[in-house]
Amino acid sequence: MDISQKRRTLLKVIVLGDSGVGKTSLMNQYVYKKFSQQYKATIGADFVTKELLIDDKLITLQIWDTAGQERFHSLGPAFYRGADCCVLVYDVNIHKSFDRLNNWHDEFLQQADLDNAETFPFVLLGNKVDLDGGSSRRVTEQKAREWCASRGNIPYFETSAKEGYNVDEAFLCVAKISLDNE
Ligand code: GTP
Ligand code: MG
Repeated sequence: MDISQKRRTLLKVIVLGDSGVGKTSLMNQYVYKKFSQQYKATIGADFVTKELLIDDKLITLQIWDTAGQERFHSLGPAFYRGADCCVLVYDVNIHKSFDRLNNWHDEFLQQADLDNAETFPFVLLGNKVDLDGGSSRRVTEQKAREWCASRGNIPYFETSAKEGYNVDEAFLCVAKISLDNE
């Protein structure tokens, strides 16, 4: 069958995490293969899309980038409705961004009003592993994996939006896990 005739599946993914951890950069790297050193805070929320073929299925991944800064963060239930997966991001060099994962996780579950809160899929990304060749790292991979295990075995990827390291792999996992949850 011609690819254009295939049924498209739209998957909605929400990306959450503290300001500056690299949410926008990860998405730009994934979708446009671009990286900028310059920081420009996301205001409100916006999405990008990426087409994927998984097991002969045509997928449109709709990835929602959100603002980490508190004053821009008032999205609420309407925004989270229909989400198929939630991607949490922290910066491996900033411990606070790791500590705050519990808040992002629980806030999402509270606001999303899901039928399947127990089994709803999350993926965790530990970003900026390239920084200072790893010497400024504050959260070990083991700590991150323990957190994931304690939250129902969340898949974990260490990424660098700057170098494009593990970014495709992480979002492929996001797409697959979203598809399973659809
Ligand atoms: P908010 O929109 O405020 O929530 O921030 P954000 O999470 O979208 O962060 P953003 O992607 O804007 O990145 C913040 C800063 O970190 C920018 O200056 C990026 O260039 C830098 N950055 C992002 N990812 C990486 C990375 O993997 N490695 C390095 N070295 N810097 C990164
Ligand atoms: Mg942003």
